[in-house]
Amino acid sequence: MSIDLSLETTRTRLHALHQSHLLQFASTLGPSALRTLLMQIESLPIERLPSMLAETEAQVSTDLTSLEPVPLVPREGPLTSEFRAAGDAMIRAGKVAAFTVAGGQGTRLGWRGPKGTYPATVVTGKPLFRVFAEQLLATERRYGIRLPWYIMTSPLNNEDTRAFFLDNNWFGRHPQDHFFLPQGLVPCVDREGRILLSSPAEVATNPDGHGGAILALERCGALQDMMRRGIEQICYFQVDNPLVRCVDPVFLGAHVHVEHSSGQMSSKCVNKRNAAEKVGVLCRSRDRETLRTVVIEYSDLPRKAAEQRDAQGELAFGAANIAVHVLSVAFAHTLASGTGARLPWHRAFKRVPHIDLSTGALVEPEKPNAYKFECFIFDALALVDRSLTMQVNRVEEFAPIKNAEGEDSPASSHRIQSDRHGQWLESVGVQVPHRTDGSVDAKIEIGALAAMESTDLRGRAFPKQVHRGQELVI
Ligand code: UD1
Repeated sequence: MSIDLSLETTRTRLHALHQSHLLQFASTLGPSALRTLLMQIESLPIERLPSMLAETEAQVSTDLTSLEPVPLVPREGPLTSEFRAAGDAMIRAGKVAAFTVAGGQGTRLGWRGPKGTYPATVVTGKPLFRVFAEQLLATERRYGIRLPWYIMTSPLNNEDTRAFFLDNNWFGRHPQDHFFLPQGLVPCVDREGRILLSSPAEVATNPDGHGGAILALERCGALQDMMRRGIEQICYFQVDNPLVRCVDPVFLGAHVHVEHSSGQMSSKCVNKRNAAEKVGVLCRSRDRETLRTVVIEYSDLPRKAAEQRDAQGELAFGAANIAVHVLSVAFAHTLASGTGARLPWHRAFKRVPHIDLSTGALVEPEKPNAYKFECFIFDALALVDRSLTMQVNRVEEFAPIKNAEGEDSPASSHRIQSDRHGQWLESVGVQVPHRTDGSVDAKIEIGALAAMESTDLRGRAFPKQVHRGQELVI
């Protein structure tokens, strides 16, 4: 289509949607900038905005007065070996894929590149993507399979993410087993529902949240690719946790265990450290006659519930969401195809820099001025018949890197990583030094190609002792 024709078509579309101002500066733009703007407008779900605004305006949030603790299935318990055998069989049969959501902008960490390129390990500083890739490689070797890896990026970091994999020679894995899917963008709107421009040639947008994964999997052909490969279950995890067990046979086996789960979507949790920890909490909420699993963000959980204790003195709502799930391909397909319920939109009122339409100048607002829309993957849990929540050990599986300093920072993650690997060495008789608070007083890094869990170290030779402050890489 010629640029003039395209301009006219866009003008007509925007006029009908009361968003004509998006072309206010069109006559000042050169052909290339104009073409980019027109393409961007074409790709945005502008027709859906009125219903997104209405839906989030009228949003019936979860009834916080009827919350109940969620029943937990421990990872280490009487059924562990049964779960593991079932999960092993699924992995060996090639029915499992890994899926990482890596579309976030990593603003809190202050890292410029994609978060997966962040140096995460305690001694060698391996980037997060390498940490996961090595686990997948180790899994492929153990089971004699090929393990496809789907990575959700955003249009803002997709090119850089792909380039990183290419530069690192796909971390020794088959290039064809990687599938990058950029998530969707949604426009930011002011209180009146008018879309903002971030420059005369660009609409202000934000990524559509990790719940955008469902649509991105369908739109980019990833679900079709999974079906073609015979994949039945998707192991979902966030890019920020270097201790995640990417493909955990015990979790997979529990997820398909008929007594515990409908096999649609399951979650992992750890015990909340304290009532104030900033994590979402897995709990159950009554929806008429049915109890549904939901995640309540720390900011929404009433203080009374957050502090409530059970008969054993433990936090009643202490199941911290670590954002690790298994979803069946069939369930994801139902959600994405619109044949079942879809994920709800959430909106947040934020500061969004924008162009003043009368002067053309950039405004950096001091107070929130616009709505950003997002979907959350965990909202899918409420659509599941019987969802399993597996309780896992924090030191084994959760050391996220989110903030530059303090909790969930590189420093706190490093300490937990050394604690985990110190415990592994102790389990095979190595003496490991501890500080008075019990943490390991050394920097210990064990790569997945050397061991994926402590039992992999059995029967191997190690030094008798790790010294205080020592750096050790295995
Ligand atoms: C999230 C969970 C919280 C949980 C915690 C565990 C939400 C709203 N909360 O919090 O319940 O306890 O993790 O670590 O998710 N992402 C995308 N695209 C987006 C937005 C995010 O791919 O549009 C990815 C990020 O790259 C990251 C993950 O989703 O891997 C988490 O996003 P973030 O917004 O940082 O969530 P948290 O506040 O850490």
